[in-house]
Amino acid sequence: MLTWMDSLKGRSMMRLASFTDEEMLNLIDLAAQLKARRAAGVRGDLLHRKNIALIFEKSSTRTRNSTLIAVRDEGGNGEYLTRPDIHFGKKESVKDTARVLGRIYDGILFRGFKQSDCEALAKYSGVPVWNGLTDDYHPTQIFADLLTVRETFGSLEGVTVAYVGDGRNNVANSLMMGCAKCKVNYVCCCPKELEPDPAVLAEAMEVAKRNGITIKVFNDPKEGVKGANVLYTDVWVSMGEEAKTAERIKMLCPYQINMDLMRATGNIDGKLMFLHCLPAFHDYETEVTKDCGALEVTDEVFESKYSKVFDESENRMHTIKALLVSALCDRKAI
Ligand code: CP
Ligand code: NVA
Repeated sequence: MLTWMDSLKGRSMMRLASFTDEEMLNLIDLAAQLKARRAAGVRGDLLHRKNIALIFEKSSTRTRNSTLIAVRDEGGNGEYLTRPDIHFGKKESVKDTARVLGRIYDGILFRGFKQSDCEALAKYSGVPVWNGLTDDYHPTQIFADLLTVRETFGSLEGVTVAYVGDGRNNVANSLMMGCAKCKVNYVCCCPKELEPDPAVLAEAMEVAKRNGITIKVFNDPKEGVKGANVLYTDVWVSMGEEAKTAERIKMLCPYQINMDLMRATGNIDGKLMFLHCLPAFHDYETEVTKDCGALEVTDEVFESKYSKVFDESENRMHTIKALLVSALCDRKAI
C-alpha cells in the first residue's frame, strides 16, 4: 500500500528545513514504493488531470525530465516554460506571473537563480511550488541521494556522508540539512574560502545535535574522509558562476575524488560508495578539462563499482513523484 502524510498535502518545498524529519523519511519511503510500483508495470492516476508548470531559468537534464515523466506516469500534464517563453521577471513581476499561473496550474516546479523568486512564486501563486534548484538550495536532489544510500546499504543508520568540493553551494547546503534530518553524519571537505555559510551551518548543526549525529568541516580532504561511507561531490563551478571557473579549478584541484581519496576513507573493502548529483566532469573534454582530463572526479572512480550515480539520477524521478503525489493527490492512500 502507498501511504503519505496528511501534513504534506498542499505543501510547497522551498528548502528541507521546512520539512520535519518524519516528513522527509516518509517521502523517501513513498518514493521507494512508487519505484517498485513502476517496476511492476503500473502507470497510475495519482496525478490525474493535474497540470504542473515547470519554470526553468537554468539548464537541466535530470530535474526537467524526471518531473515531466513523473507527472505523465500518474496521469497528469507538465508544461516546460523557459525564460524566453514567458514574461517572468521581465515585462511582468514574479508576483504577477505567480498569480496568473496559480489560476491555471495545480503546482509549479521552479529552477532558477534567486531563492527569493521561488519563495515569491509560492507566496503569490496559491498552489504548491517546489524548488528544483536555486543558487542557494537543491532540496529535491537530496531525497534521491538518501534513497540511493538506503537502497545500497539497506539503511541510513550509522552512515557517514563526506561531501568534497564546493562546500557552500546549493547541493552542499541541502545535503547537510537532509543528512541532519535523516540522522546521517555529514562531513564537509572544502577549502577555507568555500566553507558553508555560518547561518546555514548553524541551522543544520542544531538539527544534528537534536538527532545525535555529527556535522564536521575539514580543509584537509584526506583527514576529512576518514571513516566515510559515501564520498559525494558536485561540479566546482555552479550554473551562474562561470566567471569564477579558473579560480575554482585552482582552488579545488586538491579536492578531486580519485582512488587515493577513496582509499583514504579506510572503507575501500567495506561499506563505501560514490555519489554525484550530475552532470559531472569526469570524461567530458572541454576547454577547462583538456589539460587534466577530469575535474571533480576521475573517470576511474566514476566508472567503478562504488559509483551509484545512475541509480541516484533515476531516483530523481521516483522522489519527485513522491513529492508531487503527497502534495496533490486527492486520495489519502491507495
Ligand atoms: N542533478 C540535477 O539537478 O541535474 P540537472 O541539472 O540535469 O537537472
Ligand atoms: N551545483 C550545481 C548543481 C547542478 C545540478 C549547479 O548549481 O550548477
